[in-house]
Amino acid sequence: MIDLRSKTALVTGGGRGIGREIALRFAQAGCAVAVSDIDVTTAQTTVKELEALGVRAVALQADVANGSDVEAMFKSIVAAFGALDILVNNAGITRDGLLVRMKEEEWDLVLRVNLKSAFLCSKEAARIMMKARSGRIINIASVVGINGNFGQVNYAASKAGLIGLTKTVARELASRFITVNAVAPGFIATAMTDMLPDAEKEKLVKNIPMQKLGSAADVANAVLFLASPLAEYITGQVLTVDGGLVM
Ligand SMILES: NC(=O)c1ccc[n+]([C@@H]2O[C@H](COP(=O)([O-])OP(=O)(O)OC[C@H]3O[C@@H](n4cnc5c(N)ncnc54)[C@H](O)[C@@H]3O)[C@@H](O)[C@H]2O)c1
Repeated sequence: MIDLRSKTALVTGGGRGIGREIALRFAQAGCAVAVSDIDVTTAQTTVKELEALGVRAVALQADVANGSDVEAMFKSIVAAFGALDILVNNAGITRDGLLVRMKEEEWDLVLRVNLKSAFLCSKEAARIMMKARSGRIINIASVVGINGNFGQVNYAASKAGLIGLTKTVARELASRFITVNAVAPGFIATAMTDMLPDAEKEKLVKNIPMQKLGSAADVANAVLFLASPLAEYITGQVLTVDGGLVM
């Protein structure tokens, strides 16, 4: 039903997990996709899967926390596609620890990768989208940016910052018909949550009204909706995909 043929998208951190699933959803809707990742071999694997679905796709190596990498990445996208309709700021990391034990480097790294990256990529994308007078920016936040979470002061702050960035950029770009929204996943089964001990996972699931972890596909479906013409009049919103955890 959702048709993104003739559209082009960039998914950061698209080599695996939620980003890979978003790239696949876009490709299934006919969208050309640039997949960027700090680990380019994973991005190349995703691109092969996308090409098998019959769409144009490119793999780009970039550390999205680095301004010159981001600039080069956007140059490559314009060279490959000549346009960019959809940006998904998905790349993210965790470096968990209690406030009193957290090192300054762990704070800085998480803020750079999860938050500064969205500033850098949104700025580049906005230049292209403002000229086109249309576009979609979707930021992958987290429910912990809304509720906070024990042992994740850096991660929760980065995701709360991403929500503030989303609302501000939404206001600044609305008059150009560019929508900017955040998707806030709850606990999703990916490599990121695999790192948690089983006992911790069981405790987490008990607190979820739907009593199960979400899947990368659950998040990708919400992103596809926000990127589609169905969401044309929705901007500045945070859509939680969390089995009812935050309500
Ligand atoms: N898994 C969850 O439960 C969950 C919950 C809420 C939010 N999220 C968010 O969803 C997003 C994707 O998470 P995931 O679970 O798929 O994680 P993941 O670790 O499986 O994938 C993240 C991807 O980002 C890439 N990446 C990391 N640092 C990068 C950098 N500096 N530049 C470019 N790429 C980089 C990694 O190589 C990897 O391919 C993240 O922003 C994460 O914070 C995940």
